[in-house]
Amino acid sequence: MKISDLKAFKQSGEKITCLTAYDASFAKMFDQCSVDVILVGDSLGNVIQGGENTLGVTMEDMIYHTQSVSKSIQDALLIADMPYQSYDSAEQTLENAQRLIDAGAQMVKFEGGREHEASFEILQANGVPVCGHLGLQPQSVIEMGGYKVQGRDDESAKRIIDDALALESWGVQTLVLECVPAELAKKVSQAISIPTIGIGAGVDCDGQVLVSYDMLGINTGHMPKFVKNFLKGNSDIQGAVNAFIDAVKNQSFPGDEHSY
Ligand code: KIV
Repeated sequence: MKISDLKAFKQSGEKITCLTAYDASFAKMFDQCSVDVILVGDSLGNVIQGGENTLGVTMEDMIYHTQSVSKSIQDALLIADMPYQSYDSAEQTLENAQRLIDAGAQMVKFEGGREHEASFEILQANGVPVCGHLGLQPQSVIEMGGYKVQGRDDESAKRIIDDALALESWGVQTLVLECVPAELAKKVSQAISIPTIGIGAGVDCDGQVLVSYDMLGINTGHMPKFVKNFLKGNSDIQGAVNAFIDAVKNQSFPGDEHSY
């Protein structure tokens, strides 16, 4: 998938599939199964490093894993997360985003809305493709009081919609929506022309992402409601990945039991 395909998918109604990967072997398999987007997520702080949250992940960690993943993929679009405190100022954002692009990412993702205006604008001015991330922001888990569904009341729902519109105006090319009510995710998806990729955000997003370890049932920690173990009923990892892709494309995932 190319960056320009993102909008085309949204326009045609074809759902975008995305899985996280942190190493060459998983990334190669996901790519060969034709996952559209591979995300080197800072969720590696949980599933690879065993941390309680993602706050301990460094730029060096992200560069190492992005390099590993980028070596083995041919077709999938590669997005890399900017870790905690790596985009506190505009100049720092540009420098660190460039390091991830040099490591092989085609797009960088970071969490937050209008409070990061300067960071979005400097990346737009320098032609660095960006994926936004609104709703639950794991890097702000302490400020948010835990891993909670966001946008349940009118005021916070409006903030998410207004943030999404602002991000689009700053050239953001796709937007992850994490843990928001399905109805709100639908409204956001209809309000902007760039695709939304949901995780715990209902079936009306323009695509779906899961942490690969979660969808393979190998996360031994807390399993959020939105996770489905696709290895159940499939005999190998390729079967599970193909089942995830089919379920996203035919919109049977996420059903109501996996949505808020
Ligand atoms: O870090 C990550 O894996 C993510 C996804 C949960 C979207 O940001």
